[in-house]
Amino acid sequence: MNAGALSNSGIEARYRERTPGSAERSDAARSVFPSGIVHDSRRVLPYPIYVERAAGSRKWDVDGNEYVDYHGGHGSLILGHCDPKVTRAAQRQLELGTHPAACHDLEVRWGTLVKELVPCAERVRFHSSGTEANLMALRLARACTGKKKLVRLMGHFHGWQDHAAFGVDDHFDGSAAPGLLEEIAGHVLLASSEDLEGTRALLESRDDIAAVMLEPTGGSFGVLPIAADFVHMLREVTARRGVILIFDEVVTGFRVARGGAQAHHGITPDLATFAKILAGGLPGGAVTGPVSLLERLDFEAAESKGFEKIGHQGTYNANPVCAATGIACLERVAGEDVCERANRAGARLRAALNRVLAEERVPWAVYGEHSGFYFFLNPDGTDIVPQAFDPLEAGFDALKRSAKHPAARKLRLAMSIGGVDMSGKPGGLTSAVHSDADIAHTADALRESIRMLRAEGEL
Ligand SMILES: Cc1ncc(COP(=O)(O)O)c(C=O)c1O
Repeated sequence: MNAGALSNSGIEARYRERTPGSAERSDAARSVFPSGIVHDSRRVLPYPIYVERAAGSRKWDVDGNEYVDYHGGHGSLILGHCDPKVTRAAQRQLELGTHPAACHDLEVRWGTLVKELVPCAERVRFHSSGTEANLMALRLARACTGKKKLVRLMGHFHGWQDHAAFGVDDHFDGSAAPGLLEEIAGHVLLASSEDLEGTRALLESRDDIAAVMLEPTGGSFGVLPIAADFVHMLREVTARRGVILIFDEVVTGFRVARGGAQAHHGITPDLATFAKILAGGLPGGAVTGPVSLLERLDFEAAESKGFEKIGHQGTYNANPVCAATGIACLERVAGEDVCERANRAGARLRAALNRVLAEERVPWAVYGEHSGFYFFLNPDGTDIVPQAFDPLEAGFDALKRSAKHPAARKLRLAMSIGGVDMSGKPGGLTSAVHSDADIAHTADALRESIRMLRAEGEL
Protein backbone atom coordinates (compact mmCIF):
# COMPACT_ATOMS: atom_id res chain seq x y z
CA MET A 1 0.00 0.00 0.00
CA ASN A 2 1.61 3.24 -1.03
CA ALA A 3 -0.99 5.99 -0.78
CA GLY A 4 1.69 8.41 0.34
CA ALA A 5 3.98 7.87 -2.61
CA LEU A 6 1.91 8.82 -5.63
CA SER A 7 3.42 10.88 -8.42
CA ASN A 8 1.64 13.45 -10.54
CA SER A 9 1.71 11.30 -13.67
CA GLY A 10 -1.49 10.78 -15.62
CA ILE A 11 -4.08 9.05 -13.46
CA GLU A 12 -5.13 6.59 -16.10
CA ALA A 13 -1.52 5.81 -17.02
CA ARG A 14 -0.71 5.08 -13.36
CA TYR A 15 -3.77 2.86 -13.07
CA ARG A 16 -2.72 0.89 -16.16
CA GLU A 17 0.86 0.60 -14.89
CA ARG A 18 -0.28 -0.99 -11.61
CA THR A 19 -2.82 -3.37 -13.08
CA PRO A 20 -1.48 -5.17 -16.19
CA GLY A 21 -2.95 -8.49 -15.04
CA SER A 22 -6.42 -6.98 -14.81
CA ALA A 23 -6.03 -5.38 -18.26
CA GLU A 24 -5.15 -8.75 -19.76
CA ARG A 25 -8.10 -10.51 -18.14
CA SER A 26 -10.50 -7.74 -19.10
CA ASP A 27 -9.43 -8.05 -22.74
CA ALA A 28 -10.12 -11.77 -22.64
CA ALA A 29 -13.46 -11.26 -20.87
CA ARG A 30 -14.69 -8.98 -23.65
CA SER A 31 -14.89 -11.98 -25.95
CA VAL A 32 -17.00 -13.83 -23.38
CA PHE A 33 -19.33 -11.26 -21.79
CA PRO A 34 -21.01 -8.12 -23.15
CA SER A 35 -18.61 -5.31 -22.14
CA GLY A 36 -16.53 -8.03 -20.46
CA ILE A 37 -18.59 -7.83 -17.25
CA VAL A 38 -21.37 -9.71 -15.46
CA HIS A 39 -22.99 -6.81 -13.53
CA ASP A 40 -23.49 -3.28 -14.89
CA SER A 41 -21.97 -1.70 -11.78
CA ARG A 42 -18.64 -3.46 -12.46
CA ARG A 43 -18.05 -1.24 -15.49
CA VAL A 44 -14.91 0.81 -14.91
CA LEU A 45 -13.04 2.63 -17.68
CA PRO A 46 -10.45 1.77 -18.94
CA TYR A 47 -11.15 -1.63 -17.29
CA PRO A 48 -12.04 -2.99 -13.85
CA ILE A 49 -9.62 -4.66 -11.44
CA TYR A 50 -9.69 -8.45 -11.15
CA VAL A 51 -9.64 -9.57 -7.53
CA GLU A 52 -7.90 -12.71 -6.36
CA ARG A 53 -8.66 -12.83 -2.64
CA ALA A 54 -10.13 -10.84 0.21
CA ALA A 55 -10.04 -10.78 4.02
CA GLY A 56 -11.67 -8.47 6.53
CA SER A 57 -11.83 -4.96 5.09
CA ARG A 58 -9.16 -5.62 2.45
CA LYS A 59 -8.87 -7.28 -0.94
CA TRP A 60 -6.00 -8.00 -3.33
CA ASP A 61 -6.03 -7.88 -7.10
CA VAL A 62 -4.29 -10.29 -9.49
CA ASP A 63 -1.27 -7.96 -9.65
CA GLY A 64 -0.84 -8.12 -5.88
CA ASN A 65 -2.20 -4.61 -5.16
CA GLU A 66 -3.97 -4.27 -1.80
CA TYR A 67 -7.18 -2.26 -1.39
CA VAL A 68 -9.40 -1.11 1.43
CA ASP A 69 -12.71 -2.42 0.11
CA TYR A 70 -15.83 -0.25 0.27
CA HIS A 71 -17.97 -2.40 -2.06
CA GLY A 72 -18.60 -4.85 0.77
CA GLY A 73 -19.90 -7.56 -1.55
CA HIS A 74 -22.50 -5.09 -2.94
CA GLY A 75 -23.57 -4.53 0.65
CA SER A 76 -23.78 -8.16 1.72
CA LEU A 77 -20.63 -8.29 3.88
CA ILE A 78 -21.37 -6.39 7.08
CA LEU A 79 -18.81 -8.65 8.82
CA GLY A 80 -16.19 -8.04 6.15
CA HIS A 81 -14.65 -10.69 3.91
CA CYS A 82 -14.15 -14.25 5.16
CA ASP A 83 -15.57 -13.82 8.63
CA PRO A 84 -14.30 -17.00 10.36
CA LYS A 85 -17.71 -18.11 11.67
CA VAL A 86 -19.40 -17.59 8.32
CA THR A 87 -16.60 -19.35 6.45
CA ARG A 88 -16.66 -22.34 8.83
CA ALA A 89 -20.45 -22.59 8.49
CA ALA A 90 -20.15 -22.80 4.70
CA GLN A 91 -17.33 -25.36 4.89
CA ARG A 92 -19.28 -27.56 7.30
CA GLN A 93 -22.37 -27.56 5.12
CA LEU A 94 -20.40 -28.22 1.91
CA GLU A 95 -19.32 -31.50 3.47
CA LEU A 96 -22.92 -32.39 4.33
CA GLY A 97 -24.41 -31.65 0.94
CA THR A 98 -25.21 -28.62 -1.17
CA HIS A 99 -28.77 -29.47 -2.13
CA PRO A 100 -30.90 -32.12 -0.42
CA ALA A 101 -34.02 -31.12 -2.42
CA ALA A 102 -35.78 -31.56 0.91
CA CYS A 103 -36.72 -29.60 3.99
CA HIS A 104 -33.85 -29.12 6.43
CA ASP A 105 -33.20 -27.77 9.93
CA LEU A 106 -31.14 -24.84 8.72
CA GLU A 107 -34.03 -23.24 6.81
CA VAL A 108 -36.17 -23.25 9.94
CA ARG A 109 -33.38 -21.79 12.11
CA TRP A 110 -32.65 -19.14 9.44
CA GLY A 111 -36.31 -18.13 9.07
CA THR A 112 -36.74 -18.05 12.86
CA LEU A 113 -33.78 -15.66 13.18
CA VAL A 114 -35.36 -13.39 10.55
CA LYS A 115 -38.64 -13.47 12.50
CA GLU A 116 -36.84 -12.60 15.73
CA LEU A 117 -34.97 -9.67 14.21
CA VAL A 118 -37.48 -8.05 11.83
CA PRO A 119 -40.52 -6.30 13.33
CA CYS A 120 -42.89 -6.99 10.40
CA ALA A 121 -41.84 -10.62 9.93
CA GLU A 122 -44.64 -12.88 11.19
CA ARG A 123 -43.96 -15.17 8.24
CA VAL A 124 -40.94 -15.52 5.93
CA ARG A 125 -40.52 -16.91 2.42
CA PHE A 126 -37.01 -17.44 1.04
CA HIS A 127 -35.86 -16.65 -2.49
CA SER A 128 -32.53 -16.58 -4.29
CA SER A 129 -32.10 -12.81 -4.65
CA GLY A 130 -33.47 -9.39 -3.81
CA THR A 131 -34.92 -9.05 -7.29
CA GLU A 132 -36.99 -12.20 -6.76
CA ALA A 133 -38.09 -11.18 -3.28
CA ASN A 134 -39.38 -7.86 -4.61
CA LEU A 135 -41.21 -9.62 -7.43
CA MET A 136 -42.98 -11.79 -4.87
CA ALA A 137 -43.79 -8.81 -2.63
CA LEU A 138 -45.50 -7.14 -5.54
CA ARG A 139 -47.36 -10.31 -6.48
CA LEU A 140 -48.58 -10.71 -2.89
CA ALA A 141 -49.74 -7.10 -2.83
CA ARG A 142 -51.73 -7.52 -6.03
CA ALA A 143 -53.23 -10.83 -4.96
CA CYS A 144 -54.27 -9.45 -1.55
CA THR A 145 -55.72 -6.16 -2.77
CA GLY A 146 -57.06 -7.21 -6.17
CA LYS A 147 -55.52 -3.98 -7.49
CA LYS A 148 -52.94 -3.48 -10.22
CA LYS A 149 -50.90 -0.33 -9.81
CA LEU A 150 -47.52 -0.07 -8.11
CA VAL A 151 -46.20 3.28 -6.89
CA ARG A 152 -42.40 3.53 -6.88
CA LEU A 153 -40.08 6.42 -6.05
CA MET A 154 -37.83 7.81 -8.76
CA GLY A 155 -34.21 6.79 -8.29
CA HIS A 156 -35.01 3.91 -5.94
CA PHE A 157 -33.50 0.60 -7.02
CA HIS A 158 -35.34 -2.69 -6.61
CA GLY A 159 -33.41 -5.06 -8.89
CA TRP A 160 -33.74 -5.67 -12.59
CA GLN A 161 -37.22 -7.18 -12.84
CA ASP A 162 -39.76 -5.67 -15.26
CA HIS A 163 -41.61 -3.48 -12.76
CA ALA A 164 -38.42 -1.91 -11.45
CA ALA A 165 -36.05 -1.63 -14.41
CA PHE A 166 -36.84 1.97 -15.33
CA GLY A 167 -37.11 5.24 -13.44
CA VAL A 168 -33.90 4.55 -11.54
CA ASP A 169 -31.23 6.22 -13.67
CA ASP A 170 -33.37 7.05 -16.70
CA HIS A 171 -36.89 6.69 -18.13
CA PHE A 172 -38.13 9.04 -15.42
CA ASP A 173 -41.17 9.65 -17.63
CA GLY A 174 -42.25 6.08 -16.80
CA SER A 175 -41.66 4.76 -20.31
CA ALA A 176 -40.54 1.15 -20.68
CA ALA A 177 -36.82 0.41 -20.95
CA PRO A 178 -35.67 -1.90 -23.78
CA GLY A 179 -37.25 -5.35 -23.58
CA LEU A 180 -39.98 -4.31 -21.12
CA LEU A 181 -43.66 -4.33 -21.98
CA GLU A 182 -45.27 -0.89 -22.14
CA GLU A 183 -48.28 -2.57 -20.51
CA ILE A 184 -46.21 -3.41 -17.42
CA ALA A 185 -44.57 0.01 -17.26
CA GLY A 186 -48.07 1.47 -17.59
CA HIS A 187 -49.04 -0.13 -14.29
CA VAL A 188 -46.15 1.53 -12.46
CA LEU A 189 -46.60 5.10 -11.21
CA LEU A 190 -43.37 6.98 -10.47
CA ALA A 191 -43.50 9.47 -7.62
CA SER A 192 -40.87 11.86 -6.27
CA SER A 193 -39.71 11.78 -2.66
CA GLU A 194 -39.17 15.55 -3.03
CA ASP A 195 -42.90 16.01 -3.54
CA LEU A 196 -44.61 14.98 -0.32
CA GLU A 197 -47.91 16.66 -1.09
CA GLY A 198 -48.03 15.42 -4.68
CA THR A 199 -47.33 11.84 -3.57
CA ARG A 200 -49.92 12.07 -0.84
CA ALA A 201 -52.43 13.40 -3.38
CA LEU A 202 -51.62 10.56 -5.77
CA LEU A 203 -52.31 7.98 -3.06
CA GLU A 204 -55.46 9.76 -1.91
CA SER A 205 -56.88 10.20 -5.40
CA ARG A 206 -56.74 6.67 -6.84
CA ASP A 207 -58.45 3.44 -5.88
CA ASP A 208 -56.41 1.15 -8.11
CA ILE A 209 -53.10 1.18 -6.19
CA ALA A 210 -51.99 -2.18 -4.80
CA ALA A 211 -48.66 -1.15 -3.29
CA VAL A 212 -46.01 1.48 -2.67
CA MET A 213 -42.45 0.19 -2.78
CA LEU A 214 -39.42 2.15 -1.63
CA GLU A 215 -35.91 1.97 -0.27
CA PRO A 216 -36.69 3.20 3.24
CA THR A 217 -33.50 5.24 3.76
CA GLY A 218 -33.52 6.69 0.24
CA GLY A 219 -32.55 5.61 -3.26
CA SER A 220 -29.41 3.47 -3.59
CA PHE A 221 -28.99 3.31 0.19
CA GLY A 222 -29.18 7.07 0.65
CA VAL A 223 -27.35 8.33 -2.44
CA LEU A 224 -30.73 10.03 -2.91
CA PRO A 225 -31.79 10.56 0.70
CA ILE A 226 -35.40 10.62 1.82
CA ALA A 227 -36.92 12.74 4.60
CA ALA A 228 -38.25 10.71 7.54
CA ASP A 229 -41.47 12.77 7.30
CA PHE A 230 -42.03 11.42 3.82
CA VAL A 231 -41.76 7.80 4.97
CA HIS A 232 -44.14 8.49 7.89
CA MET A 233 -46.58 10.12 5.45
CA LEU A 234 -46.48 6.98 3.28
CA ARG A 235 -47.25 4.76 6.27
CA GLU A 236 -50.16 6.91 7.38
CA VAL A 237 -51.80 7.24 3.95
CA THR A 238 -51.26 3.64 2.83
CA ALA A 239 -52.67 2.28 6.10
CA ARG A 240 -55.75 4.46 5.73
CA ARG A 241 -56.22 3.69 2.02
CA GLY A 242 -55.66 -0.08 2.16
CA VAL A 243 -52.48 0.12 0.08
CA ILE A 244 -49.66 -2.33 0.88
CA LEU A 245 -46.47 -0.55 2.00
CA ILE A 246 -43.38 -2.50 0.92
CA PHE A 247 -39.98 -1.66 2.37
CA ASP A 248 -37.20 -2.91 0.14
CA GLU A 249 -34.68 -3.71 2.88
CA VAL A 250 -32.32 -5.59 0.59
CA VAL A 251 -29.49 -3.24 1.62
CA THR A 252 -30.84 -1.69 4.83
CA GLY A 253 -31.88 -5.01 6.40
CA PHE A 254 -29.57 -6.13 9.24
CA ARG A 255 -27.35 -3.12 8.40
CA VAL A 256 -29.00 0.13 9.47
CA ALA A 257 -30.08 -1.65 12.65
CA ARG A 258 -30.66 -5.29 13.67
CA GLY A 259 -34.32 -4.85 12.68
CA GLY A 260 -33.45 -2.89 9.54
CA ALA A 261 -34.75 0.51 8.49
CA GLN A 262 -38.19 -0.32 9.90
CA ALA A 263 -36.65 -0.50 13.37
CA HIS A 264 -34.67 2.68 12.69
CA HIS A 265 -37.74 4.64 11.52
CA GLY A 266 -40.11 3.05 14.04
CA ILE A 267 -42.44 2.23 11.13
CA THR A 268 -43.77 -1.27 10.48
CA PRO A 269 -44.36 -1.82 6.76
CA ASP A 270 -46.86 -4.39 5.50
CA LEU A 271 -44.19 -6.31 3.62
CA ALA A 272 -40.41 -6.12 3.65
CA THR A 273 -37.87 -7.78 1.40
CA PHE A 274 -34.33 -8.84 2.28
CA ALA A 275 -31.23 -10.22 0.57
CA LYS A 276 -27.47 -9.54 0.85
CA ILE A 277 -26.63 -9.62 4.61
CA LEU A 278 -29.55 -12.03 5.04
CA ALA A 279 -27.40 -14.82 3.56
CA GLY A 280 -24.05 -13.68 4.93
CA GLY A 281 -22.50 -13.00 1.52
CA LEU A 282 -23.97 -15.91 -0.42
CA PRO A 283 -27.08 -15.72 -2.61
CA GLY A 284 -30.42 -15.45 -0.83
CA GLY A 285 -33.53 -13.35 -0.53
CA ALA A 286 -36.71 -13.24 1.53
CA VAL A 287 -40.09 -11.62 1.66
CA THR A 288 -41.57 -11.09 5.12
CA GLY A 289 -44.88 -9.88 6.45
CA PRO A 290 -47.96 -10.76 8.50
CA VAL A 291 -49.84 -14.05 8.26
CA SER A 292 -52.75 -12.19 6.66
CA LEU A 293 -50.58 -11.43 3.59
CA LEU A 294 -48.11 -14.36 3.47
CA GLU A 295 -51.02 -16.81 3.75
CA ARG A 296 -51.46 -16.27 0.01
CA LEU A 297 -48.56 -18.73 -0.28
CA ASP A 298 -50.13 -21.22 2.15
CA PHE A 299 -51.89 -24.34 0.81
CA GLU A 300 -54.09 -24.82 3.90
CA ALA A 301 -55.16 -21.19 4.12
CA ALA A 302 -56.06 -21.16 0.42
CA GLU A 303 -58.15 -24.29 0.86
CA SER A 304 -59.94 -23.21 4.02
CA LYS A 305 -60.52 -19.61 2.89
CA GLY A 306 -61.31 -20.41 -0.72
CA PHE A 307 -58.72 -18.31 -2.58
CA GLU A 308 -56.29 -19.40 -5.27
CA LYS A 309 -52.81 -19.78 -3.81
CA ILE A 310 -49.85 -17.98 -5.35
CA GLY A 311 -47.50 -20.56 -6.82
CA HIS A 312 -43.90 -20.32 -5.75
CA GLN A 313 -40.92 -22.50 -6.63
CA GLY A 314 -37.18 -21.80 -6.84
CA THR A 315 -34.39 -24.37 -7.05
CA TYR A 316 -32.17 -22.48 -4.62
CA ASN A 317 -34.74 -21.16 -2.12
CA ALA A 318 -33.11 -21.57 1.33
CA ASN A 319 -30.21 -23.50 -0.15
CA PRO A 320 -28.51 -25.10 2.87
CA VAL A 321 -25.08 -23.56 2.24
CA CYS A 322 -26.67 -20.10 2.03
CA ALA A 323 -28.82 -20.89 5.05
CA ALA A 324 -25.71 -21.90 7.02
CA THR A 325 -23.86 -18.67 6.20
CA GLY A 326 -27.05 -16.67 6.76
CA ILE A 327 -27.47 -18.15 10.24
CA ALA A 328 -23.81 -17.55 11.14
CA CYS A 329 -24.08 -13.94 10.01
CA LEU A 330 -27.48 -13.15 11.55
CA GLU A 331 -26.47 -14.72 14.88
CA ARG A 332 -23.60 -12.25 15.04
CA VAL A 333 -25.88 -9.38 13.99
CA ALA A 334 -28.33 -10.39 16.72
CA GLY A 335 -25.80 -10.92 19.48
CA GLU A 336 -23.13 -8.29 18.85
CA ASP A 337 -22.90 -4.60 18.03
CA VAL A 338 -22.24 -5.32 14.36
CA CYS A 339 -24.64 -2.70 12.92
CA GLU A 340 -23.48 -0.06 15.39
CA ARG A 341 -19.83 -0.68 14.48
CA ALA A 342 -20.53 -0.39 10.76
CA ASN A 343 -22.52 2.80 11.37
CA ARG A 344 -19.77 4.30 13.54
CA ALA A 345 -17.13 3.48 10.89
CA GLY A 346 -19.33 5.19 8.29
CA ALA A 347 -19.64 8.34 10.41
CA ARG A 348 -15.89 8.43 11.12
CA LEU A 349 -15.06 7.91 7.44
CA ARG A 350 -17.41 10.68 6.28
CA ALA A 351 -15.93 13.06 8.84
CA ALA A 352 -12.34 12.18 7.88
CA LEU A 353 -12.97 12.63 4.16
CA ASN A 354 -14.80 15.92 4.66
CA ARG A 355 -11.89 17.13 6.78
CA VAL A 356 -9.55 16.43 3.86
CA LEU A 357 -11.87 18.22 1.41
CA ALA A 358 -12.06 21.26 3.71
CA GLU A 359 -8.29 21.36 4.33
CA GLU A 360 -7.58 21.02 0.62
CA ARG A 361 -10.26 23.58 -0.20
CA VAL A 362 -12.11 21.29 -2.56
CA PRO A 363 -15.75 22.38 -3.01
CA TRP A 364 -17.10 18.83 -2.77
CA ALA A 365 -18.69 16.97 0.12
CA VAL A 366 -18.98 13.43 1.41
CA TYR A 367 -22.45 12.65 2.67
CA GLY A 368 -24.53 9.64 3.66
CA GLU A 369 -26.15 8.05 6.66
CA HIS A 370 -25.54 4.88 8.63
CA SER A 371 -22.76 2.92 6.89
CA GLY A 372 -23.03 4.69 3.51
CA PHE A 373 -20.74 7.40 2.12
CA TYR A 374 -20.99 9.22 -1.21
CA PHE A 375 -19.00 11.99 -2.87
CA PHE A 376 -20.99 15.01 -4.00
CA LEU A 377 -18.94 16.53 -6.82
CA ASN A 378 -20.88 19.77 -6.93
CA PRO A 379 -21.82 19.84 -10.64
CA ASP A 380 -23.13 23.42 -10.40
CA GLY A 381 -20.08 24.74 -8.53
CA THR A 382 -22.13 26.12 -5.64
CA ASP A 383 -20.51 27.37 -2.43
CA ILE A 384 -20.50 24.48 0.01
CA VAL A 385 -18.88 23.72 3.31
CA PRO A 386 -18.16 19.96 3.15
CA GLN A 387 -19.10 19.27 6.77
CA ALA A 388 -22.36 21.22 6.51
CA PHE A 389 -23.54 19.84 3.17
CA ASP A 390 -27.21 18.79 3.16
CA PRO A 391 -28.00 16.37 0.33
CA LEU A 392 -31.76 16.82 0.80
CA GLU A 393 -31.29 20.51 0.10
CA ALA A 394 -29.07 19.81 -2.94
CA GLY A 395 -31.89 17.74 -4.40
CA PHE A 396 -32.41 14.78 -6.70
CA ASP A 397 -31.28 16.42 -9.92
CA ALA A 398 -27.94 17.74 -8.60
CA LEU A 399 -27.20 14.47 -6.76
CA LYS A 400 -27.88 12.45 -9.92
CA ARG A 401 -25.68 14.75 -12.02
CA SER A 402 -22.93 14.55 -9.42
CA ALA A 403 -22.56 10.80 -9.97
CA LYS A 404 -22.11 11.45 -13.71
CA HIS A 405 -19.61 14.26 -13.20
CA PRO A 406 -16.54 13.77 -15.46
CA ALA A 407 -14.25 13.90 -12.38
CA ALA A 408 -16.04 10.91 -10.83
CA ARG A 409 -14.30 8.40 -13.08
CA LYS A 410 -10.83 9.80 -12.44
CA LEU A 411 -11.49 10.13 -8.71
CA ARG A 412 -12.31 6.45 -8.59
CA LEU A 413 -9.14 5.52 -10.54
CA ALA A 414 -7.01 7.80 -8.37
CA MET A 415 -8.41 6.27 -5.18
CA SER A 416 -7.73 2.84 -6.65
CA ILE A 417 -4.10 3.84 -7.27
CA GLY A 418 -4.02 4.84 -3.59
CA GLY A 419 -5.28 1.42 -2.54
CA VAL A 420 -8.97 2.18 -2.04
CA ASP A 421 -11.70 0.42 -4.00
CA MET A 422 -14.93 2.43 -4.11
CA SER A 423 -18.09 1.87 -6.10
CA GLY A 424 -19.05 4.09 -9.01
CA LYS A 425 -21.56 6.20 -7.06
CA PRO A 426 -18.77 7.30 -6.24
CA GLY A 427 -18.66 6.05 -2.67
CA GLY A 428 -19.48 2.84 -0.89
CA LEU A 429 -20.28 1.34 2.45
CA THR A 430 -18.45 0.39 5.59
CA SER A 431 -18.59 -2.89 7.51
CA ALA A 432 -18.17 -3.73 11.18
CA VAL A 433 -14.47 -4.46 10.55
CA HIS A 434 -13.39 -1.19 8.91
CA SER A 435 -10.77 0.16 11.30
CA ASP A 436 -9.34 3.55 12.13
CA ALA A 437 -6.26 2.52 10.10
CA ASP A 438 -8.51 1.85 7.06
CA ILE A 439 -10.13 5.24 7.47
CA ALA A 440 -6.78 7.03 7.84
CA HIS A 441 -5.49 5.24 4.76
CA THR A 442 -8.60 6.29 2.81
CA ALA A 443 -8.18 9.91 3.89
CA ASP A 444 -4.53 9.82 2.73
CA ALA A 445 -5.60 8.32 -0.59
CA LEU A 446 -8.14 11.11 -1.03
CA ARG A 447 -5.52 13.78 -0.33
CA GLU A 448 -3.26 12.27 -2.98
CA SER A 449 -6.18 11.86 -5.39
CA ILE A 450 -6.96 15.55 -5.05
CA ARG A 451 -3.35 16.39 -5.92
CA MET A 452 -3.51 14.13 -8.97
CA LEU A 453 -6.87 15.52 -10.10
CA ARG A 454 -5.53 19.06 -9.71
CA ALA A 455 -2.46 18.18 -11.77
CA GLU A 456 -4.77 17.05 -14.56
CA GLY A 457 -7.01 20.13 -14.39
CA GLU A 458 -10.01 18.19 -13.05
CA LEU A 459 -10.20 20.41 -9.98
C1 LIG B 1 -32.31 -1.88 -2.65
C2 LIG B 1 -32.11 -3.07 -3.54
N1 LIG B 1 -33.15 -3.82 -3.88
C3 LIG B 1 -33.02 -4.91 -4.66
C4 LIG B 1 -31.79 -5.27 -5.15
C5 LIG B 1 -31.66 -6.47 -6.02
O1 LIG B 1 -31.09 -7.51 -5.29
P1 LIG B 1 -30.35 -8.70 -6.06
O2 LIG B 1 -29.15 -8.12 -6.71
O3 LIG B 1 -30.06 -9.68 -4.97
O4 LIG B 1 -31.33 -9.24 -7.05
C6 LIG B 1 -30.66 -4.52 -4.82
C7 LIG B 1 -29.32 -4.90 -5.32
O5 LIG B 1 -28.35 -4.19 -5.22
C8 LIG B 1 -30.82 -3.39 -4.00
O6 LIG B 1 -29.77 -2.60 -3.69
